[in-house]
Amino acid sequence: MSKILVTGGLGFIGSHTVVELQKEGFEVVIIDNLSNSSINVLDGITAITGKKPIFEKLDLREKSAVQEFFKTHNDVKGVIHFAASKAVGESVENPLLYYENNINTLVYVLQELNKLKEANFIFSSSCTVYGQADELPITENAPVKPAESPYGNTKQIGEEIIKDTCKVSAQLNAIALRYFNPVGSHESALIGELPIGVPQNLVPFITQTAIGLREQLSVFGDDYPTEDGTCIRDYIHVVDLAKAHVVALQRLLAHKNETNFEVFNLGTGTGSSVLEVIKSFERVSGETLNYKIAPRRAGDVIAAYAHTEKANKVLGWKSDLTLDDAMASAWKWEKHIREQ
Ligand code: UD1
Repeated sequence: MSKILVTGGLGFIGSHTVVELQKEGFEVVIIDNLSNSSINVLDGITAITGKKPIFEKLDLREKSAVQEFFKTHNDVKGVIHFAASKAVGESVENPLLYYENNINTLVYVLQELNKLKEANFIFSSSCTVYGQADELPITENAPVKPAESPYGNTKQIGEEIIKDTCKVSAQLNAIALRYFNPVGSHESALIGELPIGVPQNLVPFITQTAIGLREQLSVFGDDYPTEDGTCIRDYIHVVDLAKAHVVALQRLLAHKNETNFEVFNLGTGTGSSVLEVIKSFERVSGETLNYKIAPRRAGDVIAAYAHTEKANKVLGWKSDLTLDDAMASAWKWEKHIREQ
């Protein structure tokens, strides 16, 4: 049973990935500083899988704590690195916090991995690196565009740091996964997305509006050059996304990777407009959503959806669940947390 470290393992994508890792028989150690997550998530994971992961409350910005961790857990066979800050607006207001949280921590982890005999590393990247791509669907070869925010920049710089490290490392193998828009939750509604404060992302804002926490959803712009005028994104179910991490890790553990730094898009390949997401939500929930058309949001790209062939053929992974599945699970989760 290989021991896998999941940093940020109590977060939204991290917790779903821990569940899938445990289902595949991996022993999981979670590091999380609880800055944007709750310790109760550990109970949710345990209730789903019947097995409590090892948990260490640790802040990866403390270099000596990272060193100590790897001394104790020198049998770690792979690391899935989710721990990072992810709010675009906050990153614009406090860039140094983002560079410290997302870059320093990455460097400290890689420094320790370089001391191991063999290290396998999966990095959470984002389709934000493509900006507004010139061609759709977006392939992994699409050029990386200048970042729109410090958050986006940390994903680009993060990939560069890993690539440069892999060039000179005999033992490090890494995969960067570029997520499109992760949504939904585990079907059990025992874990899910837990936004702190007012959600910035579309789906939690929809479910919080429907449950009565927010008065009205603003649809940011209906004058884009798309069929219904609203922006298009590739919404991927978080459980599908979590499974992709397990497949990517297994690829590295089985030495099936072609180079020691690989990049994959993770999306469904289908673009949905904001109005289509709202319709999907209304269809599966039976609710009528209170929304209005509002001005465009600064920094939004018009359309982004993934070319999925590389992930399908090379990684051997594709998404299974639909947008309706994702919206139904997000709604079930929203109702579950408000009942508590
Ligand atoms: C956002 C980030 C992206 C990050 C991703 C992480 C921005 C500009 N981009 O992506 O860098 O990787 O989250 O999840 O913040 N929308 C509304 N009303 C709302 C909220 C959103 O109409 O209240 C629309 C947006 O205009 C967009 C779509 O819904 O067209 C999706 O928005 P969101 O969930 O914030 O994701 P992204 O902007 O794609």
